[in-house]
Amino acid sequence: MQPATQRPSKPLPTQPLSGVLGAEVIGTDLRDLIKQGDCTSLLDALAAHSVVVIRDQTLTASEFVELARLMGELEWHVLDQYRMKDQPEIYVISNIVENGKPIGNPKDGFGWHTDQAYLAKPTAYTLLYGVETPAEGADTLFVSTQGAYERLQAEFRQSLRGLRTIQSYLYMREGNSAYRKNNAVTTELRQDQRDRVPDVTHPLVRTNPTNGRASLYLGGDSLASIEGLEETEARALIDKLVAHTLNNDFVYSHKWQPRDVVIWDNRGTMHTATDYDRDRYRRHIWRTSVRGEVPY
Ligand code: SIN
Repeated sequence: MQPATQRPSKPLPTQPLSGVLGAEVIGTDLRDLIKQGDCTSLLDALAAHSVVVIRDQTLTASEFVELARLMGELEWHVLDQYRMKDQPEIYVISNIVENGKPIGNPKDGFGWHTDQAYLAKPTAYTLLYGVETPAEGADTLFVSTQGAYERLQAEFRQSLRGLRTIQSYLYMREGNSAYRKNNAVTTELRQDQRDRVPDVTHPLVRTNPTNGRASLYLGGDSLASIEGLEETEARALIDKLVAHTLNNDFVYSHKWQPRDVVIWDNRGTMHTATDYDRDRYRRHIWRTSVRGEVPY
């Protein structure tokens, strides 16, 4: 008999959540994967479905971080003021105020994007855990950028290869993007935060190393321009590709329940937060992310 570490892990039982992307993993307690120290089956499910939902999980903050660590090297969010004090690998999104202080970022993730596209090695996987979730609203929407790429005409697809986008955190927060309007920007960046996010360029067509599929890698509000194109030409191309990608046919809308774990692969998806009645409901989400490779 092979030792446990060499045995291929059993595929997780899944059922699809939409025709294009997303699957619910059923009958699985993530603490078992953590105990086994092996999340290969979870990574396989992500390679197949891009977004996975695991309902009704009971995780401590340190277990949540341990799960993310099994998936790869953790990425630290530049907005360090929203990190959890006792578990700084977790970034908190919440409208809850305790002792006059917000416990997390009250409004984050609005506007279609892939996470941290403005880094040289952008996020591969993002993990969210719903500690408290509103009974209505606050759906997280996902779209397949792999599906979007594959549905372009072959000749047009070919013309996009070789183009590189300029991704800029500073443009996103301080430039002419929609980010400021849609998200809570309550403080200015410190110099050391600015230093962590120099502008970078990435291929417009990106390959996901886990499944070999190519996708449109747009980034989101951090997409400042396209290298070598005039501003108007770049904007027209970006607008066309964004409109094509956000075609409703590619969207999965996640309706949150408390204790949901939602994990996605940013190398084949874009996502956006949506609003809820903030006076009526509390929302408390833990978020952590796993660094990816230099995009190619
Ligand atoms: C995110 O974009 O990481 C957060 C999405 C959400 O809070 O629904």
